[in-house]
Amino acid sequence: MLNKITVVGAGNVGATLSQRLAERELAREIVLVDVVEGIPQGKALDQWESGPIEGFDTRVIGANDYGPAKGSELFVVTAGVARKPGMSRDDLVKTNAGIVKSVSEEIKRASPGAIVIVVSNPLDVMCWVAKQVTGFPRERVIGMAGVLDTARYRTFLAEALKVSVEDIQAMVLGGHGDTMVPLISYTTVSGIPVTQLMDRKRLDAIVQRTRDGGAEIVQHLKTGSAYYAPSAATAEMVEAIVKDKHRVLPCSAYLEGEYGLSGIYLGVPCKLGAMGLEQIIEVELSAEEKAALHKSAEAVRQTMAAVTL
Ligand code: NAI
Ligand code: 2OP
Repeated sequence: MLNKITVVGAGNVGATLSQRLAERELAREIVLVDVVEGIPQGKALDQWESGPIEGFDTRVIGANDYGPAKGSELFVVTAGVARKPGMSRDDLVKTNAGIVKSVSEEIKRASPGAIVIVVSNPLDVMCWVAKQVTGFPRERVIGMAGVLDTARYRTFLAEALKVSVEDIQAMVLGGHGDTMVPLISYTTVSGIPVTQLMDRKRLDAIVQRTRDGGAEIVQHLKTGSAYYAPSAATAEMVEAIVKDKHRVLPCSAYLEGEYGLSGIYLGVPCKLGAMGLEQIIEVELSAEEKAALHKSAEAVRQTMAAVTL
């Protein structure tokens, strides 16, 4: 258990996440920070009061400043504006870059040794903003997207194959956007290559639904984007770090030559432990997957070009 985790942004993802973290007792204190007066305080108090029923002793505190967040070992950044129907993740870039920049400055001041998990969109570019502004090493600035995209892919595969989601092993790499790269060559059902169980046409349809997974939820909700699966995905990453699990999960990490790419964040297989990012694992890719990963990197670079820090 950590002493303190701070979740920045008490909206749909942030508030659902803080409840999940408290229920798992991943820290003695969870601080929920938001710019809107009263919202983090009210939600935090409400969550803390669920402790006797859910059986956790974690104290949840809400704040509009970073005083209570001082000394947090881990921050999760969910602050920003969510997608509306018809809006791409990249449309969010300018507004959210300003928000993530100011949040990163506060994190650096409050807890210069902290690990930061970024959730705000466009994800890979916001990770880069957080790394640039905090100046933290890449081990301590990681992005959540691949765990979510992979969960969507596993959900759709399990439904089509009529098997448990628990038996689907898969990984979605690349940028968190339309160019994400579900790795068919590494998709198995308890070790059986998925290509032996499903024809390519059905598989391609599932890959496409995965790529459109965020937009599909936005179409339903109309006033916001997904938050149950995103908060579950983020909690999985937090737990891997807090419990020093050395889990191998697809996360957005800063590349320094891996996969032939440098100077950008992109979804790649990462080992997570107590120090944050322990290792980026380079797996062999088919020519098609390699080309798709590089195309995705190009899309991330184009969005990065719109940001001035
Ligand atoms: P939301 O609109 O419900 O919550 C965002 C919160 O951030 C609001 O409460 C707002 O007041 C707060 N905020 C704005 N500026 C702030 C600042 N400077 N400091 C502190 N708080 C601030 O949005 P939701 O659904 O929680 O999504 C949050 C972000 O996460 C969005 O950018 C969304 O696109 C992204 N997202 C990313 C996912 C991923 O896979 N990486 C998945 C789901 C959402
Ligand atoms: C999602 O994929 C909005 O990025 C968010 O649901």
